[in-house]
Amino acid sequence: MHILKTPREAFAKLDRLRREGVRLGLVPTMGALHVGHLSLVEQAQRLADQTVVSIFVNPTQFGPNEDFSRYPRTFQEDVERLESLGVEWLFAPTEQSLYPPGFSCCVQPPAVAQPLEGEFRPGHYGGVATVCMKLFQIIPAEVAVFGRKDYQQVRVIEQMVEDLNLPIRIVVGPTIREADGLAMSSRNRYLSDSQRQQALGLWRALQVVAEMAADGQRQVSDLERAMLSTLEASQVTKIDYARVVDARTLAPIESLDRPAVALIAAFVGQTRLIDCLLLEAD
Ligand code: PAF
Repeated sequence: MHILKTPREAFAKLDRLRREGVRLGLVPTMGALHVGHLSLVEQAQRLADQTVVSIFVNPTQFGPNEDFSRYPRTFQEDVERLESLGVEWLFAPTEQSLYPPGFSCCVQPPAVAQPLEGEFRPGHYGGVATVCMKLFQIIPAEVAVFGRKDYQQVRVIEQMVEDLNLPIRIVVGPTIREADGLAMSSRNRYLSDSQRQQALGLWRALQVVAEMAADGQRQVSDLERAMLSTLEASQVTKIDYARVVDARTLAPIESLDRPAVALIAAFVGQTRLIDCLLLEAD
């Protein structure tokens, strides 16, 4: 696997490949790779001739009191995992090379960034959109693969690509779960054994909503109440949101009369976890 350290080197090498007709697939990550990331890599490998994984813990998407400094950094293990999958390219820029002194230009994220995470993590999607825009410029990929677990992030990126006519296709990979349902996340490694049990409350709450919807329950306020009480029964009490919203716009809805998504963000101890489930309309 070739490791590219600067935007200049990455663009020079990868754009030459693109001009030779090699189709590139990109998987943007912040490292601490788990099976969920690896499934995105495998998806990219099926869709393109060569795969580029980026690893960059992006400071601009973390708030001042968030976990940027303690975010897990496991570079050597990540390299081994990617090599074992036969990934051709790793883009792992330094912070200095991606945000050199004087950097000040940012992407204003689309409206779909405003609710939910946008309320609880102001500035987060500005940072995500900016770094993804940079990655899409540096790595001339035909397709980029993102995980469904970060549902709102996917909608932000899809909308940015549409609104700004970016020549890249966004593909969404499924949420990969542990055997007991916990969505895989780099942040799960912060959890103690007892916190890990509590964290299952997020999956339980989503399953309750899915069952209620399958039984014909359409009233969103009832679904949201059931999510909250399931979370609380699992001792997940610091809840940023547990909502059922329009799957495309993420706007509030009253009734399950269109494709919708249930989204949860909650703390288990100091660890903020998110999870989601798509709910089909009739
Ligand atoms: O989902 C992530 O890991 C990050 O938000 C991303 C897309 C790599 C941007 O830093």
